Amino acid sequence: MGQPVIETKEGYILLVTDRLDRGEAVAEALGIAMDVRVTGPDFYNQDHGDLSGDVCEGVVTDIAFNREASVKSLRQILRNKGMREAPLMSMLRKVDGSEGENNFMRAKAVGAKICLSAATPPRKLAAAVVNTTHPDQSIVDRIVNRGLAKSGLAVGAILKVVDAGGAIDLPTVDAGVDPVINAIRHGGLARWLDSVWVHDDTTYQHSLQVAGLAAAVAMNLHFPKADQQRFIRAALMHDLGKGRIPLKILNKPGKLDDGEWAVMRTHAKIGHDILVRGGVTDELTLNTALHHHEMLDGTGYPDRLRGDGIADPVRLMTICDIYAALIEKRPYKDAKSPEEAFGILYSMGDKLERSMVDALARAVLKPEEREAA
Ligand SMILES: [Fe+2]
Ligand SMILES: [Fe+2]
Repeated sequence: MGQPVIETKEGYILLVTDRLDRGEAVAEALGIAMDVRVTGPDFYNQDHGDLSGDVCEGVVTDIAFNREASVKSLRQILRNKGMREAPLMSMLRKVDGSEGENNFMRAKAVGAKICLSAATPPRKLAAAVVNTTHPDQSIVDRIVNRGLAKSGLAVGAILKVVDAGGAIDLPTVDAGVDPVINAIRHGGLARWLDSVWVHDDTTYQHSLQVAGLAAAVAMNLHFPKADQQRFIRAALMHDLGKGRIPLKILNKPGKLDDGEWAVMRTHAKIGHDILVRGGVTDELTLNTALHHHEMLDGTGYPDRLRGDGIADPVRLMTICDIYAALIEKRPYKDAKSPEEAFGILYSMGDKLERSMVDALARAVLKPEEREAA
């Protein structure tokens, strides 16, 4: 597996449709691998100027080619700079017989590079589009890269507030959540954990490690989708307070002394307070930032909570967080193997919820069959 290339400023696919009900399903299928913008069905007189600032990587059409008005407006759209040069991919609603032949000819006449049946399964459609727009990448490469790029932007949006204050750009944070789920679902956890190193900052690496572990364990425990999303969002934001810890403490080789530990421990409260000031109201995100270092036996920090005082998802995040720290490689420490890391988690006894350590072990060591690449 080669080192993935992270394109944080990726272009978009323009989906031109004359049936918005179908368009949504197609946009969702393509959306696992790339940004999609949809235009139609009454796009005749629409101004597409707002799309011309970003790079259009391809145009996908889902129109009735026997409908003259649709073909005419498609031609108009394709006159826009950027869209003219992008590869055109056309979905044909009818591919058999003379009608199919006519559709094919009309699509070719407007410049279609490839034609696909509109009945193509979503995953195959996405793969065909990726194959045309990014011939050097597989669909799984694309999904994993997208996950790394979008979640990286999310962490960037979070850390920006640590330095600059103000409100957290929550849409950018939320836009980093589903791409992590897709990357784990299609590429697997092991690949994710091996790939986060493309970000060279330790806080990015760690936040993405914890988010990936959180996604894998949440999927493995069959959390409802909305709960998976909340859990991953909380993971992405759990350690933002570390942005205020001096680097000489954060990256110190060897053990911290008592004074340095006291400083390090402040990151939980600092992070929580930055989130509150930044406009975050989600209880799980706030609770996770403040309490992800609490231990069930009351030996954690900052509030020395015990047992029931610590919410279930926070206990689970704590386990993901410790595991991530153990398997991370740093200039001054080797990464632990998964077996060594679980040995340490299990040796912590009553500090951690054993059934949750088991759940993480199932997610990490025996990944569920993921969708075939
Ligand atoms: Fe932490
Ligand atoms: Fe952490």
